[in-house]
Amino acid sequence: MTSHRFAKGETHLACQVVGSGTPLVLIHGFPFDHTMWQAQITALQEDYQVIAPDLRGFGESAAAVGDASTGHASAGVDMQTYAADLVAGLDALQINEPVILCGFSMGGYILWQVLRQYPNRVKAIVLCDTRAGADSAPAAAGREQMATQVLTAGIQPLVDAMLPKLLAARTQAQRPELVQQVTAMIRKASPAAVAAALRGMARRPDVQSELANFDWPALVLAGAEDEISPPEEMQAIAAQLPQAKFVEIADAGHMSTLE
Ligand code: MLT
Repeated sequence: MTSHRFAKGETHLACQVVGSGTPLVLIHGFPFDHTMWQAQITALQEDYQVIAPDLRGFGESAAAVGDASTGHASAGVDMQTYAADLVAGLDALQINEPVILCGFSMGGYILWQVLRQYPNRVKAIVLCDTRAGADSAPAAAGREQMATQVLTAGIQPLVDAMLPKLLAARTQAQRPELVQQVTAMIRKASPAAVAAALRGMARRPDVQSELANFDWPALVLAGAEDEISPPEEMQAIAAQLPQAKFVEIADAGHMSTLE
C-alpha cells in the first residue's frame, strides 16, 4: 500500500492506494478514517486499484484553518467541499478514467455530491449504510450541540452518544475486539475535525428528489440491524435509483463493513 499526500488550498490530504485495475474509491464515514475499510482493501486490491482517502481533518489528512471555528455561518465542512477534495485527490493521482465510488454513511452523503458536481468522474456506485434525506431541525440542532461539547470537553461525549448505535446487538455481546476497535477509532478523531463534519452534515442537501436521475449501476448495502440508516430506508433509496441492487447484511448494524 502506498501513502500519497497532496496539498489542496490550506490543507494536506492523505490517501492510500493499492492494487491495479479499475479505480475504486472508498469514502469513510464519521468520525472514522480509511482504516475502517481494511478488510475491503485487502480483498478488493486483487481486482481493483483501491483508493482509500482520509477526509480532511481525519486520519492522516489535515484540517484547514477555520474548518471548525465558531461564530460564523460557514463554520464546518460542507459535503460539497469533501467531494471537491476527493476529486482533487484523483487529479493529483492522475486518475482520469471514471471510478467506482463507494461511500459509507457520511461517505455516502459525500458520494451524492460527487454525482451532482462531477458526474463524468463516476462509473458505478456502492452505497453502504447511508441516507439520502437531510437532517430534521432537531437532528441538526443536536449535531451543533455535540460540536460545541466536543470542542470544549473532548471526544468522550461523542463516544458515549455513538457507540450504542453503531454495532448490532450480537456484535456488542460477542465481539469485544470490534467494540474496542470502533471505540479506538472514535477516540482517535480530532475534536476540530469532528465539529467541522457535524456542522457540514447538519446542513447537507436533501437528494431524495434527485435519486431517479442518478443513473449509474448501483449496489446498495445495509446492515439488517442498522439504527442510524435503517435497511427500510436504504431499500427505498435502491427502489428509486434506476439501476440498483439492494443487499441486506445479516447480523450487522451500522458498521457493516467491519461486522
Ligand atoms: C457515519 O457513520 O458517517 C455517521 O453515523 C453519519 C451520521 O451521523 O449521519
